[in-house]
Amino acid sequence: MPFDMLSDFPRPIYPSDHSQSKHQWENKSSLTKYRDTYPFIDPFRFKYSLTGKVVIITLAHRGLGRASVNAFAAAGASIALIGPSAQALEPVRQEIKVKYGTPILALAANLLDPNAPTNIVRLVEEHLGPVDILLNITPPTYFRPFAQEKNITTDWWRCMEGNLKAPIALIHAVLASMIARHTGTIISTTSATASLHVPFMSAQGVSKAALLKFHHQLDLEVRPKGIHSFAVNPGLIPSHIHDPEDPVVMRPEDFEMEPRMRTEVMESLPGVQFDASGLATGTFVSINLISRLIRNSLALL
Ligand SMILES: NC(=O)c1ccc[n+]([C@@H]2O[C@H](COP(=O)([O-])OP(=O)(O)OC[C@H]3O[C@@H](n4cnc5c(N)ncnc54)[C@H](OP(=O)(O)O)[C@@H]3O)[C@@H](O)[C@H]2O)c1
Repeated sequence: MPFDMLSDFPRPIYPSDHSQSKHQWENKSSLTKYRDTYPFIDPFRFKYSLTGKVVIITLAHRGLGRASVNAFAAAGASIALIGPSAQALEPVRQEIKVKYGTPILALAANLLDPNAPTNIVRLVEEHLGPVDILLNITPPTYFRPFAQEKNITTDWWRCMEGNLKAPIALIHAVLASMIARHTGTIISTTSATASLHVPFMSAQGVSKAALLKFHHQLDLEVRPKGIHSFAVNPGLIPSHIHDPEDPVVMRPEDFEMEPRMRTEVMESLPGVQFDASGLATGTFVSINLISRLIRNSLALL
């Protein structure tokens, strides 16, 4: 399969140019109790179970995107990798070719371009077949006091676009064919901030909450048509967003603007209380809820 490219658009830049953090970095800290995949969802269990299924994965070049590409390839799926540039996608494409040999198509695209979603779906259908699964990996965001946003149409609004407009546009583009075939699974990554209230994270909180709400709405409409819609909070995973040198996480100038920001953020995180309303519909999967689920299950005994 030739390396297909929609275009090599300049990527959206917010709030600081994330792509400048290109150093090699590995997180060895213990962010979570579980450092590996839960046995229940171990890709090994699903080996070859998705052979013939076509999956689109966005931001496929690193982090959760790249890990998901590997898991779906292990399950035998045909995968369309979507990323910001051919250069960024090539190592993943090579990795999958060597390790799994499953059909793969790499597409560089600016997901905010109005024509990108339909072009992506058309190319995927041409080269791999109709889309069975769409996995929207959304970009991470940033901490900043809202009053300190210089211009909300730049960083703040671009965050809405990357986290809301881009995944929804792609969902819209795959939906007609899924409905016609009465099958399909649509997943988007959200975050705990979709249901938590963490100060100084309005861009992330609002965009992720809106995407969660969208998935609930979508579920109501398309579940009877055989389509599953999920917003997933992946939980704490040692990816590049925890890189101490990542400009998205470390912006000393933002912390200096609001002296209480660091303490308030740090204090609010351990007190994480999840809003169960999202869970009630079964379409918000929050993977780090294990202790709460165990506690609740015990309370029922
Ligand atoms: N890891 C966690 O602990 C965790 C927890 C909860 C939720 N999540 C959510 O999971 C999703 C994926 O995160 P991850 O852990 O895989 O992080 P990651 O390793 O940092 O990967 C983030 C991806 O987002 C892209 N990106 C970053 N800034 C961007 C921007 N301004 N515009 C467009 N793309 C941008 C990066 O592309 P480049 O390489 O080109 O910069 C990269 O592909 C995010 O929505 C995050 O909020 C993660």
